[in-house]
Amino acid sequence: MNDFLPLQAIDHVEFYVGNAKQAAHFYKSAFGFQSLAYSGPETGVKDRASYVLSQGKIRLVLTTPLEPSHEIAAHIHLHGDGIKVVALTVPDSLGAFSETVKRGARPCIMPNRKEDEFGEIIVSGIHTYGDTIHLFVERKNYSGLFMPGYKEWSPEFQPSEIGLKYIDHMVGNVGWNEMETWTNFYRDVMGFSQLVSFDDKDISTEYTALMSKVMTNGTGKVKFPINEPAEGKKKSQIEEYLDYYKGPGVQHIAIGTRNIIETVKELQGRGVEFLYVPTNYYDDLDSRVGEIEEEIEELKQLGILVDRDEDGYLLQIFTKPVEDRPTVFFEIIQRKGARSFGKGNFKALFEAIEREQAARGNL
Ligand code: FE2
Repeated sequence: MNDFLPLQAIDHVEFYVGNAKQAAHFYKSAFGFQSLAYSGPETGVKDRASYVLSQGKIRLVLTTPLEPSHEIAAHIHLHGDGIKVVALTVPDSLGAFSETVKRGARPCIMPNRKEDEFGEIIVSGIHTYGDTIHLFVERKNYSGLFMPGYKEWSPEFQPSEIGLKYIDHMVGNVGWNEMETWTNFYRDVMGFSQLVSFDDKDISTEYTALMSKVMTNGTGKVKFPINEPAEGKKKSQIEEYLDYYKGPGVQHIAIGTRNIIETVKELQGRGVEFLYVPTNYYDDLDSRVGEIEEEIEELKQLGILVDRDEDGYLLQIFTKPVEDRPTVFFEIIQRKGARSFGKGNFKALFEAIEREQAARGNL
């Protein structure tokens, strides 16, 4: 079938944050991201400062406004630090824009060309859930570090990488009864299809529940699970997110590594906080997942979870939220054949999240 929206990759993820200089320091020190590019007053951009960090194929942009009346300041006032832009690399930005708008996307950035001595980039953008947007970035005629308007950023302070390679998936939380709206959006407007489906019985604990559907593009390179809260005895973790983010938004970024044990040791050594499941999670692990290459004792010490599907297994671990509002967090994942998302861990994981929710008085 003709893919009207060929997506080559997640191009970059842009956070709007209250203090980009300090956020950049955190992602360098704690997550091993490398300094790549900068834009701000020194490069002729007077209203904001942006730091571009990279590791493996991942690019993060951290942007802060320099004026209180800036629309970015309003975004931060409402949502706290959070993800504004999920940018997608496309071969034809104008085509991506017109094909999606024709199918009902709400435009937010008209196609425009940016040029410098390294060539040209064409960007356009559409709205998705909440205040989040998708940018379509065409960079095939560009050889610079990131984009026109940015200059190289190479400070002396540069902690080493920790083995983060690529964005495996990015999850969005949407409001009550909005699941269909947004899975339809990704299907009809973006040409995605649904990969796996769980019903709310699959993902519930004694207290709280959610629904999750995974939408994937034609090449399978871009995977966007969508969560909706579901009724339980107590408040769903998705509802807690919606309360604090003040609406739908990106819940977590899952980052792939080729050696989760080494990556997680580094992260823990650098102060990144993870959700822990009780150690009895590991008691029957081998009967649940069968033979694995890793030492269970080592996984247990680090709190790494394991799940198996028909294609293989995966290892994963989840950070606590990376800001004071209980909103955005990260997942670290290593796939050993498995193409699913760790459904077998959801119960243990959600119980761990509930303990954190209860500590915040939100359960
Ligand atoms: Fe995930």
